[in-house]
Amino acid sequence: MPAPLIAASILSADFAKLGDEVRAVDEAGADWIHVDVMDGHFVPNITVGPVVVKAIRSHSRKPFDVHLMIAPVDPFLEAFAEAGADIITVHPEAGPHLDRTVERVKALGKKAGVSLNPATPPDALDYVLDELDLVLVMSVNPGFGGQKFIASQLRKVESIAETIAARGLDVRVEVDGGIDPETARQAVDAGATALVAGTAVFRGGPSAYAGNIRALRGDA
Ligand code: DX5
Ligand code: ZN
Repeated sequence: MPAPLIAASILSADFAKLGDEVRAVDEAGADWIHVDVMDGHFVPNITVGPVVVKAIRSHSRKPFDVHLMIAPVDPFLEAFAEAGADIITVHPEAGPHLDRTVERVKALGKKAGVSLNPATPPDALDYVLDELDLVLVMSVNPGFGGQKFIASQLRKVESIAETIAARGLDVRVEVDGGIDPETARQAVDAGATALVAGTAVFRGGPSAYAGNIRALRGDA
């Protein structure tokens, strides 16, 4: 099984030195920089907006995997695209017309992802899957880092991975929340090809990042 891509979630970084943190996880081998955008309305927490994405953009050339947990989402797509997002992921519940939202992300020249909350069934993807670059399966309820992995989501990962294979699509399945070396292996066994990790990447400070990332890939 190929090693999964590791998307380091900067939610667990030291926000007082965010630029340095982005640079450090990049140098430590993270494949993507995962940015969790929260609005205090769609999810019960508030984080960062496009100005922060723009500010940290120059600190890494790796793809910026921007996870929008905001509603409505459509009015902000352009600002995140301009700020330097490479992949823009939205939740189906964040607007009335998911297909239109996905089309807009692609019209902005960005890769499009859709994220499913733990209670959102995989069928929510049925009619947009062919248009997507990424499916982000939430293995915690979105809003905070450091939560416990919800094991029932492994079945959802399997089901989505099977559908992608059956349709012959090139869509990455990424799992987000409660990822540590053990749940990472379970997610990859279920069909995940990318993993978001905050706590498990940033624990121990910069000197630990490279080892933390290797452990998540399963090669430590
Ligand atoms: C949760 C976010 C996650 C979070 C994961 O709403 O979408 O990306 O940062 O954090 P850990 O890896 O600590 O569970
Ligand atoms: Zn996320």
